[in-house]
Amino acid sequence: MIADPLLAWYDRHARRLPWRSPPGAPPPDPYRVWLSEIMLQQTTVAAAGPYFDRFVARWPTVAALAAAPDAELMAAWAGLGYYARARNLLACARLIVAAHGGRFPTTEAELRQLPGIGAYTAAAIAAIAFGRPAVVVDGNVERVIARLAAIDTPLPAAKPRIHAEAAARTPAARPGDYAQALMDLGATICTPRAPACAICPLRSHCAAAAIGAAADFPRKAAKRPKPHRRGFAFWIERCGAVFLVRRPARGLLAGMRALPVSAWSDAPSLGDAPVAARWRLLTPPVRHVFTHFSLDLTVAAGTLPPGREVAGHGEWWPIERLAEAGLPTLFVKAAEVAGRRDDDRTAA
Ligand code: ADE
Ligand code: SF4
Repeated sequence: MIADPLLAWYDRHARRLPWRSPPGAPPPDPYRVWLSEIMLQQTTVAAAGPYFDRFVARWPTVAALAAAPDAELMAAWAGLGYYARARNLLACARLIVAAHGGRFPTTEAELRQLPGIGAYTAAAIAAIAFGRPAVVVDGNVERVIARLAAIDTPLPAAKPRIHAEAAARTPAARPGDYAQALMDLGATICTPRAPACAICPLRSHCAAAAIGAAADFPRKAAKRPKPHRRGFAFWIERCGAVFLVRRPARGLLAGMRALPVSAWSDAPSLGDAPVAARWRLLTPPVRHVFTHFSLDLTVAAGTLPPGREVAGHGEWWPIERLAEAGLPTLFVKAAEVAGRRDDDRTAA
């Protein structure tokens, strides 16, 4: 079995991460485990770390988080992306307080009922925070297991088989350490392109390494390219302020502050602007990749005379305080393009 050599390796090489207990120590606060797992769903360990520290300093308990105003939480999340996670985070915290007496349930099945907690996250919290022998399969673990068992089926069809192979290897003892040990092995040794089999504690248990083909697993089905869209973001300046809107409550970047935008399509239109202006088109466009498509967003900049109004709801935000607006990354990039243009102009 792999648990013994893996845990022995983890005892020496576990990454120190702000939400973790050291190997062999009692489990960490479930609130910290939950918060970190939500952040790590679509964000790297390195990027999530500073956000995690800021969040627990500002909201030290799930009750404190539940009491946070929506807008403050959304602004604190800005930059982490996948903003549905932030809305689910608040909904989950409030449900824990309202329906569970401020305590996280301890079983996978109950955790699974909470907003934002899917199969992976429920298993991770059950194992790490509550010591249950749940089968925890994230992207790193998927790769390690596919190699250990040399699974020939391509992803995503291989997922059930990977889960079964992972389950067959999951020990009853130290489930939280075991789950995080597999994650760490995948992050530091069994890496996607160049796995370091020569120093891997599981080398003698690994079917892929045995045939000298570690990097060929997991096999992947050829993927279709993402559709590409184009659009305009409108940088509308008036007396040192820029016009910001709030995105609709549903859909992409829902509920976040943003620049006004055109529809995103093959042929976007400046006619979608909320005001008529002489637009300067700033190049190059901002490139951004979403889950289901990629986007080239061209910033159209215009300056309005004092007192000129803009159609629709919005707020005039002082440009020197833009960092406090909690803009998602796409619009931070757009603002940087607009700022560069300002530098050019003052330099000229
Ligand atoms: N990715 C998701 N959860 C993690 C954890 N607890 N430690 C390291 N990486 C992770
Ligand atoms: Fe991954 Fe190589 Fe270790 Fe197998 S021996 S688990 S392929 S690093």
